[in-house]
Amino acid sequence: MTDQAFVSYEPASGAELWRGQACDVDECVANARRAWPVWAALPLANRIEFVRRFANEVRKEGDAFAELIARETGKPLWEARTEVDAVIAKVEISIRAYAERTGKKKLDSALQGTAAVRHKPHGVMVVLGPYNFPAHLPNGHIVPALIAGNVVIFKPSEKTPAVGEFLVKCFHQSGIDPAIVQLAIGGPDEGKALVSHRQIDGVLFTGSVQSGVAINRALATNPAKIVALEMGGNNPIVVMDTPKLADAAALIAQSAFTTAGQRCTAARRLVVLDHLYDPLMEEVLKLTDRLIVDEPFADPAPFMGPVIDNETAELLSNSFLHLVTNGGKALKHMKRPQADKPFLTPGIIDTTNMADRPDMELFGPILQVIRVPDFDAAIVEANNTRFGLSASLIGGGPQDFNRFWAHVRAGIINWNKPTNGASSAAPFGGVGLSGNHRPAAFYAADYCAYPVASTEMDQPRANIGVGLK
Ligand code: NAD
Ligand code: SIN
Repeated sequence: MTDQAFVSYEPASGAELWRGQACDVDECVANARRAWPVWAALPLANRIEFVRRFANEVRKEGDAFAELIARETGKPLWEARTEVDAVIAKVEISIRAYAERTGKKKLDSALQGTAAVRHKPHGVMVVLGPYNFPAHLPNGHIVPALIAGNVVIFKPSEKTPAVGEFLVKCFHQSGIDPAIVQLAIGGPDEGKALVSHRQIDGVLFTGSVQSGVAINRALATNPAKIVALEMGGNNPIVVMDTPKLADAAALIAQSAFTTAGQRCTAARRLVVLDHLYDPLMEEVLKLTDRLIVDEPFADPAPFMGPVIDNETAELLSNSFLHLVTNGGKALKHMKRPQADKPFLTPGIIDTTNMADRPDMELFGPILQVIRVPDFDAAIVEANNTRFGLSASLIGGGPQDFNRFWAHVRAGIINWNKPTNGASSAAPFGGVGLSGNHRPAAFYAADYCAYPVASTEMDQPRANIGVGLK
């Protein structure tokens, strides 16, 4: 496994960006096991000090970091900068989350003594990252794991190793020992080897449902390991009556096409009431025509860049073709202007009359439109998926949103807001195939430590009151 080379390419130009060797999984785990007791024994205040220094390192390196993210993912530079900001913001949010959700609590109910709940770290955590947010999402596991007293082996996506390496370098520059946060280069094979290693204590995964289910299966007979799975979505955005159709169109475009549709929370299905279809789609199509698709550093700044690689662009083009040839009606064809580059223009397709609409995540700039007669049918359609990550209602009044909230099955349910752009200060997770009920972001603290209940007295004091001879 160790002599295999990994190479990443800039999606926008095809140029080679980074090259490196696969990690030695056994060595990473052995290092982590040795490092854990030392890190776990540090006072919480010291661990917090280290992650604050890490935030400062990222701040110092912010421009270079954003540039690297833009080059390796193809996302626009302005958007890469927001990812760096999110990495920095995660630190203070995670410190607050640890105190609020885990940490130490004294209970006052014990008779002549004290009762307390304290949390302990699990040990060696494997963090497996995706390519679409190669810094922010793994960091959302790593920082809370470190604060809680775990050590981390981080395997970035094989498509974004350079960003992974940069992130880990910032931890080391902040004075954190290299064995406490280790970079593990590799692909699915190294991921599998880490997941099934006997000496690890948990897996914190963000990625596709296919990989998440494989990890779940690999650990099915091993309940001792903590497993947090953040997976994909087939997210609905429902539009009801609103006088602000241009704003609705902006929310739809933002939900469906930001990051070239490569967000787990992207809207994949636009559900529209019949009588709104024509005026709404006119606005959506007009706006979509204006979205600039270009390389990350272009001037004027693009709305979106390419998808991650040519193979993905090919797969998405074939998926669009499949929808068109199986009953879908293209409202805006998804185009690939350069055959050798993974730029795709946004595609919009009406799939109302498709007999068998595939319930899968098409991780790119494809929006399906489904017409429905009324709000009840819209809710049924919103729930017509095995996923359950995010959902939005546009328009309507508070009572409509209450109904939407009560009946739609998802971990994020918004009103007059996009489906994406989830807040780090809230729990972030889904139901169905989108997650395993271990939400990340603010609730990441919950899966990074386990509670220990204690009742305590400074001296043994007891007697047996009944049943003695
Ligand atoms: P992916 O599943 O292909 O890979 C994710 C990571 O898992 C990579 O590091 C990969 O090497 C590793 N991996 C793959 N198979 C594995 C296995 N069997 N065992 C162990 N490790 C394995 O995901 P991706 O294509 O990089 O990312 C895009 C996906 O991530 C989309 O489906 C998107 O919806 C999802 N995503 C989810 C969230 C969320 O928080 N819910 C956020 C961002 C992205
Ligand atoms: C993602 O993690 O892919 C999306 C986060 C968001 O924009 O909600």
